[in-house]
Amino acid sequence: MTSTIRVQSRLPSVGTTIFTVMSRLAADLGAINLSQGFPDFDCDPALVDAVTRHMRAGRNQYAPMQGVLPLREAIAAKYETYHGRRYDPETEVTVTSGGTEAIFDAVAACVHPGDEVIVLEPCYDSYVPAIQLNGGVPVVVTLTYPEYAIDWGAVRAAVTPKTRLLIINSPHNPAGAVLGPADIRELTALVAGSGILIVSDEVYEHIIFDGVQHESMARHAELAARSFIIGSFGKTYHTTGWKVGYAVAPAPLMEELRKVHQFVTFSTHTPVQYALADFLSDRRGLAELSPFFQAKRDLFLRLMEGSRFTPLPSRGSYFQLMDYSAITTEADADFAVRLTKEHGVASIPTSPFLHGSAAPSVLRFCFAKKDDTLERAAERLRKV
Ligand SMILES: Cc1ncc(COP(=O)(O)O)c(C=O)c1O
Repeated sequence: MTSTIRVQSRLPSVGTTIFTVMSRLAADLGAINLSQGFPDFDCDPALVDAVTRHMRAGRNQYAPMQGVLPLREAIAAKYETYHGRRYDPETEVTVTSGGTEAIFDAVAACVHPGDEVIVLEPCYDSYVPAIQLNGGVPVVVTLTYPEYAIDWGAVRAAVTPKTRLLIINSPHNPAGAVLGPADIRELTALVAGSGILIVSDEVYEHIIFDGVQHESMARHAELAARSFIIGSFGKTYHTTGWKVGYAVAPAPLMEELRKVHQFVTFSTHTPVQYALADFLSDRRGLAELSPFFQAKRDLFLRLMEGSRFTPLPSRGSYFQLMDYSAITTEADADFAVRLTKEHGVASIPTSPFLHGSAAPSVLRFCFAKKDDTLERAAERLRKV
């Protein structure tokens, strides 16, 4: 249909996300898709059976706004076991339609027009639009290259009386960096005595390598007291298409998040919540996840030996950054497209994760793929 009516965009600089662009290009060209962050293998069939069972049992109507109680209880129990902090399932846990919704809800809950929100880039692409749509001002601090460490001096310099929120992400997409004890000390000192809140995107919480402890905000009383912690069952149970995630936060913060959630989606898919509760209540699958993905990372790295790509450290998440400066000086987005077209492997450039700084010569490869997919992709990449 043609129309002369135009909407004045609230997000004028946003186009189709790079994930959609690269996945579409990969599909059109029949390329191996190591771009978008989702597994090419299926979830546990018992989880599908559980969803079916709950559907047949008639659990097909609206779930409670805050999520079904068994799942909220299982989430709370997980935090208590893993991080020693008790969140009240009644008032401090909310199930959302993916981690993305939880992030949006948290930002919308606390950012007033003109409030400043510190983001550490490269960052997941939903953060900045969420801030802008709520009238906030993103204040960007760049992670150091190539470690993708947090420059705490730069973060301190970015804080002003208008700073309302800091968004952090560990394990990190796209870099695979993780917060360490020194970061926790810096963060604790930074926010002490301030009104700064934290959105802690921990969707890769169960995908962390080499025996490193995931530094959830929940482990640290002063940080937990001001944090919305975000999780995603898509990442944990290989079910990104189900779009079920959650937030945990102290009751006064959660009360505000729920006010947003109830008008964004109201509630989340009912039978899937019951099935996830069945799995999560006995922690099914959690302990195996890090070794499973660490083996995939190590396989991919082994397969890439002898290529002209240089791996950067990946300590968590299911992403591997590869420096391609030995191959070309092309901009990352151009090279990612050419790699897909000429060599049949799709990846993700980091430029769409950046808002101020120049993109280095790296591409992100997702190794949440069957071994055979990784072998075929690496065979092509070794020839580049
Ligand atoms: C860092 C990060 N945060 C949040 C999300 C969103 O999770 P969900 O698919 O549950 O919305 C993703 C998904 O790729 C992610 O990588």
